[in-house]
Amino acid sequence: MAPPIKNHIIFLLLRLLFLIKADSKCQKSYICRNFTLEFPFTDINHSKCGLFPVNCSLPHKNPLIYLREFPMDLLGKVSDNKFLIHDSVLANYFNWRSCNSFSNVTLPKSPLVSFSYSPNLTTFNCFNPSPTVVDYFKHYENKSCDILEIYYKREATVVSDDVLPGSGCTMNQMPIRSGQGFSGEVFDLFSPNFTLEWNLSEDCYECYKRGGQCLTNESNRFYCKRGNVSS
Ligand SMILES: *[C@@H]1O[C@H](CO)[C@@H](O)[C@H](O)[C@H]1NC(C)=O
Ligand SMILES: *[C@@H]1O[C@H](CO)[C@@H](O)[C@H](O)[C@H]1NC(C)=O
Ligand SMILES: *[C@@H]1O[C@H](CO)[C@@H](O)[C@H](O)[C@H]1NC(C)=O
Ligand SMILES: *[C@@H]1O[C@H](CO)[C@@H](O)[C@H](O)[C@H]1NC(C)=O
Ligand SMILES: *[C@@H]1O[C@H](CO)[C@@H](O)[C@H](O)[C@H]1NC(C)=O
Ligand SMILES: *[C@@H]1O[C@H](CO)[C@@H](O)[C@H](O)[C@H]1NC(C)=O
Ligand SMILES: *[C@@H]1O[C@H](CO)[C@@H](O)[C@H](O)[C@H]1NC(C)=O
Ligand SMILES: *[C@@H]1O[C@H](CO)[C@@H](O)[C@H](O)[C@H]1NC(C)=O
Ligand SMILES: *[C@@H]1O[C@H](CO)[C@@H](O)[C@H](O)[C@H]1NC(C)=O
Repeated sequence: MAPPIKNHIIFLLLRLLFLIKADSKCQKSYICRNFTLEFPFTDINHSKCGLFPVNCSLPHKNPLIYLREFPMDLLGKVSDNKFLIHDSVLANYFNWRSCNSFSNVTLPKSPLVSFSYSPNLTTFNCFNPSPTVVDYFKHYENKSCDILEIYYKREATVVSDDVLPGSGCTMNQMPIRSGQGFSGEVFDLFSPNFTLEWNLSEDCYECYKRGGQCLTNESNRFYCKRGNVSS
């Protein structure tokens, strides 16, 4: 008597799960001009289906990717987890020799996805450097930019952020310009065009695979919202 009822319940549960899945309006991928977008990216018309929307509509020359308030041009997809990007905000800063070039974090910090660009070059931006800090950076080049002293090396090197606590310095990494010889200005070491790589956290990937929605709570920690997501 017992087993048939159990089977029946399991059958009903499976059916319910199937219905929930079929009801979900999010597609696995979206066509964006000549390539496809997959989670964590999504078409801007279905912005709830991913974490970072992309506006693929004409007449803008390139699709626009929203990783922060101001979008970047998405030039293409290099591989499964790499985009080619042109950052027009950075391009303007470099062109105008703006000290903002060094004070802006251009990639979002998220517990759900990590972003990186490589190769990149590190600068240390120090406010009012103490003699200890000046000594620490004696093998670096320096440039004064507004209220900041910028320390850097011309080649990508392995760096540690040991110096940072309490020193008044912040570490900043930006995409390095390849090819051309160096003209002398620190701004010309960098390029607004770069390969952006992303890596979805395991938790978020599992959550997404089970049909949930990856979210962060008020303290910027991951949580998975169960249930179906509709666009
Ligand atoms: C998409 O088109 C651009 C030029 O519009 C081209 O550079 C790129 O290689 C194309 N990408 C793919 C995946 O075909
Ligand atoms: C997004 O919506 C706009 C306006 O509603 C439409 O013109 C455009 O074709 C849509 N894009 C996609 C990729 O569906
Ligand atoms: C996408 O970009 C087009 C212009 O290329 C603009 O008209 C449209 O409003 C944008 N869509 C959204 C949802 O921001
Ligand atoms: C960069 O920083 C400046 C000054 O803090 C701010 O006005 C500007 O909006 C920032 N730009 C971006 C793209 O975050
Ligand atoms: C810079 O490159 C290093 C080494 O490849 C990498 O570990 C780091 O995440 C990169 N930084 C950024 C901001 O992409
Ligand atoms: C900047 O570099 C010059 C030449 O190496 C050095 O004499 C000077 O002390 C440095 N300034 C700072 C603030 O680190
Ligand atoms: C970066 O890409 C833009 C748009 O594709 C192009 O116009 C520009 O010349 C490139 N700049 C550099 C420094 O490679
Ligand atoms: C991606 O993230 C996972 C954990 O979230 C980590 O184990 C893995 O090494 C990362 N891969 C890369 C290429 O950074
Ligand atoms: C956010 O999530 C973390 C980890 O689950 C938890 O410890 C913390 O209390 C949560 N914070 C808020 C404000 O919900």
